[in-house]
Amino acid sequence: MSNYHIKHLEEYFQVYNKSVNDPETFWGEIAEENFIWHKKWDKVLQWDFTKPEVKWFEGAKLNITENCLDRHLITRADKTAILFEPNDPKEGAQHISYRTLHERVCRMANVLKEQGVEKGDRICIYLPMIPELVFTVLACARVGAVHSVVFAGFSSTALATRINDCDCKMVITSDGSYRGKKTIDLKGIVDEALKDCPTVNTVLVAKRIKSDITMVANRDHWLQPLMDAASTNHKAEIMDAEDPLFILYTSGSTGSPKGMLHTTAGYMVYSSYTFKNVFNYQENDVYWCSADVGWITGHSYIIYGPLANGATSILFEGVPSYPDYGRFWEVVEKHGVNQFYTAPTAIRALAKEGSAFPEKYNLSSLKVLGTVGEPINEEAWHWYDDHVGRNNSPIVDTYFQTENGGIMLTPLPYITPTKPTFATLPFIGIQPALMDENGKEIKGNQVSGRLCIKFPWPSIARTIWGNHQRYKETYFTAFKNKYFTGDGALRDESGYYRITGRVDDVIIVSGHNLGTAPIEDAINEHPDVAESAIVGYPHDIKGNALYGYITLKASGKSRDEDTLRKEINQTITEHIGPIAKLDKIQFSDGLPKTRSGKIMRRILRKIAHNESDNLGDISTLLNPEVVQSVIDNAL
Ligand code: WT7
Repeated sequence: MSNYHIKHLEEYFQVYNKSVNDPETFWGEIAEENFIWHKKWDKVLQWDFTKPEVKWFEGAKLNITENCLDRHLITRADKTAILFEPNDPKEGAQHISYRTLHERVCRMANVLKEQGVEKGDRICIYLPMIPELVFTVLACARVGAVHSVVFAGFSSTALATRINDCDCKMVITSDGSYRGKKTIDLKGIVDEALKDCPTVNTVLVAKRIKSDITMVANRDHWLQPLMDAASTNHKAEIMDAEDPLFILYTSGSTGSPKGMLHTTAGYMVYSSYTFKNVFNYQENDVYWCSADVGWITGHSYIIYGPLANGATSILFEGVPSYPDYGRFWEVVEKHGVNQFYTAPTAIRALAKEGSAFPEKYNLSSLKVLGTVGEPINEEAWHWYDDHVGRNNSPIVDTYFQTENGGIMLTPLPYITPTKPTFATLPFIGIQPALMDENGKEIKGNQVSGRLCIKFPWPSIARTIWGNHQRYKETYFTAFKNKYFTGDGALRDESGYYRITGRVDDVIIVSGHNLGTAPIEDAINEHPDVAESAIVGYPHDIKGNALYGYITLKASGKSRDEDTLRKEINQTITEHIGPIAKLDKIQFSDGLPKTRSGKIMRRILRKIAHNESDNLGDISTLLNPEVVQSVIDNAL
């Protein structure tokens, strides 16, 4: 087990150097010693960022679920694999052992086969955070189907777009979902979406809220009776290392969501290795990541990474505020959680409710705290450290992206000295570079620039589903021979990295990555809207909130502004989902534009940030005169 578990800082530097100086030997050893393979690879790595093309462990044969399930049956059959904590604490937790999880996944795999699913088919999973979500994700992997999990907070339009983009032939959903006090009619949303999805011929429905729903004959089937009837034996499909494992959509600054395609072996190796080290997971630990499986964090750090390590991973259906703001800490106490991983937006929301909630609970089991999804501000960092970790649990500020598959920059707990707001050092094998605007690498410390990665790591997304050209343009064109993250970063005097935020038009609201263009597209669908521009502005809880500048058509000018605001947010909810609603909507007679007609978001951003006395040169605008009126009417 050489190098699989790093134990001190000197070892980190040694292993890091090895991973950079001889990546093939290094990753070959990690892969060989810690996973089971039907056949070993012919070549560890083949890559060319100009095409771009990346292949890890080519020639190897495996099934990721044998690594996540079957191999643990010898030593950990009765150990809890998934600890399900429902929305309502009164319902009681469910301990799903490795034996039971294996059995359920085998049954589910047989259900998929009986329903005609073949290797390579795309399956859309639109489920709440219930055990069936884990069964279906793993069952897809077991039969070699490509799962595309869509976060069950997305609207029917967003769901339909994602189903159609990769031609899913099946959707797996539930009758509905619980969210705090509310229930959501998931099946109704699926029915609406499927009006526009010609490739879907089967819908499997898990029963969760026992609501009265309509089942479409020959298309819809209840999942449970099929599972009950299915065999518990299933021989995993043997996959090639580079066979697709899943597609996960992420929004960009422009255009439709990008279906990031992840493949099998490299993803398995990297998600598993990062999990072990970033959380310092020990055999009897209870680990909890509060993210939704609809995001990459949930894929890599609720399901694949933990299960590949034989861990106990909590699957939490609820919300931080129900029944009250002590919910997270109640779960930590009840299950003796050792590693807790959440997002800055959740920390800020909980901090706002005061420290009395965490103080009520025994949190002494905690050994590691994690954060991910956006830059964590200093205040939130200290609140987390003081009131949750009680200055006794290191915080790992983990930086990565959907495209990365696994954590890229992070401290290792009890090893790397932490520093608030810094994601600190690259993980093993990660070669960051800061670039200036002319495409030159900025060497040395105490510098800032655009964050690129110079060398492939095993879990880099291989393409955008159906659009390799877009993949190339988005990530590999701005800087020659490098992967560009889209983030700005600084490197301090000791080589620690701090992410300063996106340099493109993506705004992170409550940890959700929102492209401005799709939101503007949605707003522009409103019949009274002529044009719109969205910018972010700092928000205490959400990190950023959305500020919309909207010009109305003549038809809208006589209408009540508050009614219009409601309708516009309703339109956004229908097209994208409630997470993309605007906090502020300012109506304006015009928007500042360049001569080529591009809206100058830079100026609007300054106004939204209350920095309108510092707009820079606006004389080159097409319509400098509108700027003053936008300032005068700012909210
Ligand atoms: C973007 C990726 C990775 C899971 C959730 C987000 C931002 C992520 C951090 C962090 C500062 C962070 C970046 C990145 N981000 N983690 N620890 N510190 N910023 O995945 O939706 O693909 O978003 O989230 O801006 O590019 P995603």
